[in-house]
Amino acid sequence: MTTLEDVSTTPVVLGGVRGGPPVPTLRKDRWWIQPVVTVTVLTAFVAYATWAAFVNKDYYVGATMHRDLISPFYSPCLTESCVPGSHPGTIITWWQISPALLILIFPLGFRLTCYYYRKAYYRSFWWAPPACAVADAHGSYKGESRFPLIMQNVHRYFFYAGLIFNVLLTIDAVMAFRQPGVGLGFSVGTAVLCVNACLLWLYSVSCHACRHICGGGLKKFSDHRIRHRIWKTLTPLNAHHMVFAWMSLVFVALTDVYVRLVASGTIHDYGFHF
Ligand code: FES
Repeated sequence: MTTLEDVSTTPVVLGGVRGGPPVPTLRKDRWWIQPVVTVTVLTAFVAYATWAAFVNKDYYVGATMHRDLISPFYSPCLTESCVPGSHPGTIITWWQISPALLILIFPLGFRLTCYYYRKAYYRSFWWAPPACAVADAHGSYKGESRFPLIMQNVHRYFFYAGLIFNVLLTIDAVMAFRQPGVGLGFSVGTAVLCVNACLLWLYSVSCHACRHICGGGLKKFSDHRIRHRIWKTLTPLNAHHMVFAWMSLVFVALTDVYVRLVASGTIHDYGFHF
């Protein structure tokens, strides 16, 4: 009779403590590419978003250019310092620095606590572990059971806040069809804001917390037909959450870049009116 010991030559220890002395991985593929790409893109995004949030100018293309385009980093623009036309009315008078800093906390918190991004940055930045079958860089593992990582549990509430922002950015996309002084129209900027809003909705509705809110905690789907139907619709989207996470992250930055280039007069926002 052939036993497992007869066919295996690789010593395997089961039930060991996670971490421990680092051992070389047996993987021969380029497993490190994914962490390197993740670190590069996330670092670039954080650096750009930080600069864009503090620079506090060129975030709105208004009536002087016959457009109504606002950067997603500055919407909703709620402070007295917002440029004319970029906000429906002054709401906060005591905030004197960039209005973006007032709102970015919510999208940032949503992304930071996202189940997918957690996996991505735990692996890439913290090496815990950097990839499947590659040793953890840390000697012990506490999971998300203590401060500060236990705060990741607020993800569901950031999801709710994210929905509000999605609605506001969708309104911005609709308002981008306005061409003040001309009428209604369509431009590259309109398309950019519409695509941005769509990608943010896809990112939100494919969220794991969203899927759980819609169909989780039920004993029998047959007693909750509407929730079951929603859950069945969301489940295939949930399988692509990682793709939507990256696409929406990159595109939200590109949207800011586009609005910034038009607002500063670097490029023209080509379009037509009806
Ligand atoms: S799991 Fe990624 S946004 Fe909720």
